[in-house]
Amino acid sequence: MSYLKFQYSKTDYNYVQYHRDGTWDDGKLISKDSLELPTMATVLHYGQEAFEGLKAFRRKDGKVQIFRPYENAKRFQASCEYLLMPKVDIEDFVEAVVKTVEANLKHVPEYGSEGSLYIRPYMIGVGETLAPTPSPSYLFGVIVTPVETLFNGSLKPVNLWVSNYDRVAPQGTGQYKLGGNYAASMFAQNIARKKGYDDCLFLDPSTHTKVEEVGAANFFGISKDNIYITPNSPSILKSITNMSLKYIAKNFLGMTISSDNIYIDKLDHLVEAGACGTAAIITPIRSLDYHDNVHVFPTQDTVGSVTQKLYDILTGIQKGDIDDPDDWLVVVD
Ligand code: PLP
Ligand code: COI
Repeated sequence: MSYLKFQYSKTDYNYVQYHRDGTWDDGKLISKDSLELPTMATVLHYGQEAFEGLKAFRRKDGKVQIFRPYENAKRFQASCEYLLMPKVDIEDFVEAVVKTVEANLKHVPEYGSEGSLYIRPYMIGVGETLAPTPSPSYLFGVIVTPVETLFNGSLKPVNLWVSNYDRVAPQGTGQYKLGGNYAASMFAQNIARKKGYDDCLFLDPSTHTKVEEVGAANFFGISKDNIYITPNSPSILKSITNMSLKYIAKNFLGMTISSDNIYIDKLDHLVEAGACGTAAIITPIRSLDYHDNVHVFPTQDTVGSVTQKLYDILTGIQKGDIDDPDDWLVVVD
């Protein structure tokens, strides 16, 4: 996977808000993009960190809109709760995101480009703890940076290596967006890349028989019967892109939606497959290499017709070319 177009570049402001002695301070925008932390900060030793990823898009009329920030706010609450970190109120989360985007409007890429403004809210334990216990204090921050696609260019089919390793435990942290999950997936991703694959696909950690997800994106398939299928597992991140594609498949394309097991050795019912996520958008999957048996999906090097439609509708809504179907967008003035 090439991350060339998914890189951080400094913007004008980022948001910081501290939680000390049980309360949040007022929060502010700062221009410095580095932090001073105690060397014993909980985040540095015990990984007490959660984050989010969402995007703001430039519309044709020049206005900027943020895609589904309330869903990210809810997922962030769940992630923070699991790590015993304080909750950020839903409205406060969205306000911090909007403020940070507003302060960096000039960095939102032009309408018609492949770019968008990636928004990275995060929370870290900043207090000192030697014993592995929750931090006494926290930082909630929001960083923004212009990006293009995570993979090699949108809608370019990728080849994935099916990992022998797990990124999360069966009843563990997979459904939450925690930094530790990504650290735990780097080893397998590195093997995949060294073998010449774009990325790896993880199987379910209990039985290693079912498709779970890609390192930074959910998996979806389109069946011969025109069903939109995604794996059903407690250890997969609840992707907001996937949630939106289910809505689009059902309400725009009249498809049936199914949340089901997808067995790695029984893929013939899928005529299209893809990876979806905020950063990945929709990336078609060309092939899966499972124990040196390569399964090539029928679409091969092309984009399947359903995948193409899903992509066009999703990105059309995000850029404002298609009407907002269900209060998904927050327009920044
Ligand atoms: N799964 C993982 C592991 C991810 O990192 C991401 C990216 O956020 C996704 C799925 C897609 O989630 P979303 O669509 O909310 O960005
Ligand atoms: C996102 O799509 O927002 C992600 O968080 C993926 C990121 C780890 C690259």
